[in-house]
Amino acid sequence: MLNFDYDIPTKVFFGKGQLGKLGPEMKKYGDRLLLVYGGGSIKRTGLYAQVLDMLRENGIYWQELSGVEPNPRIESVREGADICKRESLQMVLAVGGGSSIDCAKYVAAAANYDGDAWDLCIDKSKIKKVLPVFSVLTLAATGSEMDCGGVITNLATYEKIGGGVADQRPKASVLDPTYTFTVPANQTAAGTVDIMSHTMETYFNRTPGTYFQDRMAEAILKTCIHYGPIAIQQPDNYEARANLMWASSWAINDFLADGKANVWTVHPIEHELSAFYDITHGVGLAILTPRWMKYVLRDETVQKFVEYGVNVWGISPDQDPFSIANEAIRKTEQFFFEELKIPSTLTQLGIGNENFERMAKKVRQVALDDGFVKLTWEDVVEIYKACL
Ligand code: NZQ
Ligand code: ZN
Repeated sequence: MLNFDYDIPTKVFFGKGQLGKLGPEMKKYGDRLLLVYGGGSIKRTGLYAQVLDMLRENGIYWQELSGVEPNPRIESVREGADICKRESLQMVLAVGGGSSIDCAKYVAAAANYDGDAWDLCIDKSKIKKVLPVFSVLTLAATGSEMDCGGVITNLATYEKIGGGVADQRPKASVLDPTYTFTVPANQTAAGTVDIMSHTMETYFNRTPGTYFQDRMAEAILKTCIHYGPIAIQQPDNYEARANLMWASSWAINDFLADGKANVWTVHPIEHELSAFYDITHGVGLAILTPRWMKYVLRDETVQKFVEYGVNVWGISPDQDPFSIANEAIRKTEQFFFEELKIPSTLTQLGIGNENFERMAKKVRQVALDDGFVKLTWEDVVEIYKACL
């Protein structure tokens, strides 16, 4: 296990009816706020009205940035930053899923930057001062409610870039599982895969001696496997939604990653897919993950897949290691494509091989060099091809 500084300072108000605690918390940072949300789900569910009541009760002045897209665009970030500058706003509150929260994180950074907001996505060293960020989460998936990352898309350049600095981590987040009762089945499925993928990105790692983190990771994976299908079948099952929500935060809030040399591979490969084709992030991950697993399974990695198969999927350890590994990959596919009913190929999404080379060459080199298994861009093309 490597050295690390444990620092996960987000205050979490978890559970039913916790929204009221956010106002007094935000007041510690100011009383002028930008409210950021997506395409309207929060208006349909009634959460928008509750949030406005909470702002009024606490004497907080607000302006709004609405219509943030899934795979949030740089144009939304620019618009939000302009409002913050024009209105001298002091903080940013996102109400929604990862897209709204990510957008809020970059608005908060761009509000104190004189150049173009896209500069901050390309080069995080340019992020100097960040307005305090808060979130009310409505979809268990990205973990953006408790991490410092954000992912912004520039459709003009076919780029989707993830990054972030410590100050972009929300100061406080409301995690009320009842707000996720209305998440449709396909987004619940994609979110479940996203949580699992964040966990796997650090679980499949070469750093030795991380027994504790690995067992915690397995607990998160088992939570998703147990509760994902329940949340799909019974959208208002509080226990299922609550467990998925807390798992989403802990999969990516640095707790599992601390102590590991942690470079993700599958996410950077997926981000090219959503940059080029604007697909749902979790769907791209589901299609890629089993193909990536098969591609990197070899003598040096088989033991990790045995651990995964035995501890997560309950496969008997009394077999040849490669049989266990292949069975674990098969169970992963079965879970994603049969239980969660996610499309199993890129072809089903209308994606062909026309951009594979271009996409593969755009994957960050460090992700290829320092992932679980070192890959080249040619390997990435092969992984994409296996997804057709
Ligand atoms: O836009 P609205 O109307 O709110 O509808 C959203 C959207 O259509 C809807 N939705 C959200 N909560 C709902 C709901 N519908 C009904 N009831 C609710 N309670 O769901 C759709 C998807 O929302 P979105 O925020 O896009 O989903 P998600 O949370 O999965 O975020 C995806 C984005 O986060 C990035 C992804 O790449 C993608 O851009 N990621 C962010 C990460 C991070 N910050 O650390 C890490 C991830 O790996 C990921 O890359
Ligand atoms: Zn993700």
